[in-house]
This record gives sequence, C-alpha cells and structure tokens, in this order.
Amino acid sequence: MRRKLVAGNWKMNGTNADLKEIEALGIAWAAPRVDIVVCPPATLVSRMAFALGGQRSRVGGQDCHAEASGAHTGDISAEMLKESGARYVILGHSERRADHHETDEMVRAKTEMAHKTGLTAIVCLGETDAQREAGETLDIVAAQLAGSLPDGATGANTVVAYEPIWAIGTGKVPSLEQIGEVHEALRTKLRERFGDEADAIRLLYGGSVKPDNAAEIFGGADVDGALVGGASLKSTDFSPIISAL
Ligand code: G3H
Repeated sequence: MRRKLVAGNWKMNGTNADLKEIEALGIAWAAPRVDIVVCPPATLVSRMAFALGGQRSRVGGQDCHAEASGAHTGDISAEMLKESGARYVILGHSERRADHHETDEMVRAKTEMAHKTGLTAIVCLGETDAQREAGETLDIVAAQLAGSLPDGATGANTVVAYEPIWAIGTGKVPSLEQIGEVHEALRTKLRERFGDEADAIRLLYGGSVKPDNAAEIFGGADVDGALVGGASLKSTDFSPIISAL
C-alpha cells in the first residue's frame, strides 16, 4: 500500500517572511494522514527544516548536482541539501529541462547521486502540448522514465511526478482519463523494469492542482498524490489540497 504524498514546489519564490505559510499549515503538519513535503528555494531549506523541528523529512530541494563537489559555480550538491535538512529533492522538472537544457541522462546521474546521498528523488516527466497533439505522449513519458531513473530506484528513494508541460501554471488540467492512461503506462513500465518494487514507487500528478480540483484529481486511478506549484505558496490554498487527499 503506497502512502499518499503531497509535495509543494515553491520554484523561485519565497523569502524568510514566507516561512509563516509553513507554520500556518498547523494541523495538517501536526497529524498528517499523508506525507507532506515542501521544496523551497535552496536559500530557505535550512530555515524551513529548522522551523519544522523534528519534522525535517518534509523539506526538499529543487535540484542538485550530479557530482559530490567541485568547480560548479552556482550549483549545490545532494550532500549540501541533506546537511541543510532536506530529505527529498525534485529532479528533472520541465523548467530545469527547458531553462538549463537538462537531458534524461543528466537527470539520471543526479538521481543516482541523490540516492547515494540518502535523498528521495522526485523525478519529473511530461509531454509538451505539441507532443500530446501528435499522439506521442505515452512514448515520450516512457522514454523519459527509462532515461531518467537509475537501476537502483525503489519505493523508498524514488517518486515519479507526471507533469504535462501544458498544464503547468496554465490552469489547464488533463481529464482523469488522460492522467489515468499515463499513470497506467508508467506503472507498467516500472513493473517491467523493477518487478514487484515498482508497486512501491509513488506516482504523483502535477500541473495546475488547486483547492477546487484536487479531490477530483486524487480520485483518479493510480494517483498517489500531487506535486503542487503555485498553490503551495499560500497555506490557504495548500491546506485544502492536503485535506483533499
Ligand atoms: O512542480 C510543480 C508543477 O510545475 C506544477 O506547477 O501547480 O503551478 O501548475 P503549478
């Protein structure tokens, strides 16, 4: 039985003052029926982990380098994230694939490093609007899954987030059938590669998840939770999404 997970991705948003949004989640954090993770900018990981006291497992980074250390100006390592209190890291988000030209191979190397360091990787994949229109969605996500996950992926160290690029920040959401079709295809591919362990790997949906559509999305087949962007920034939006799971 997979435990449900709601992950918030603050992207390049948030300063110290916004930590109050985490504290305001209150009850949801104190007695979660589900796993909750918030991935703030790297500058806030340590402070958020500190603010959460013993609940450090609920903080994540948004990226890490594939190498342990070295001459990589501006990058941070998996170990640095872990030392700051993170226990998760988002990898291969479409914004990093687009803005920083990250390939499946690079995402796979980063995921390997995250695993080696003891971080749980939330590996993102998803098709563009044009790819969906061309009927290529299942081939695209299957290739991204195969290329981005290392052989050592398990339910404990890996979460897969299906995020159609056309649904991110647009207010457009796929139908339950469309989400279900992709999740079913991903589950099949995971089983082919990882056997029984595949059933422990959580599949999240991401893209314009809001308080008013979360319950419907969470009702979809093989949806183990969500990766939430914009609506994770305010506790008044994030809290009802958590409650809907
Ligand atoms: O990582 C989160 C996704 O990019 C979704 O973002 O909820 O703002 O559409 P969004």
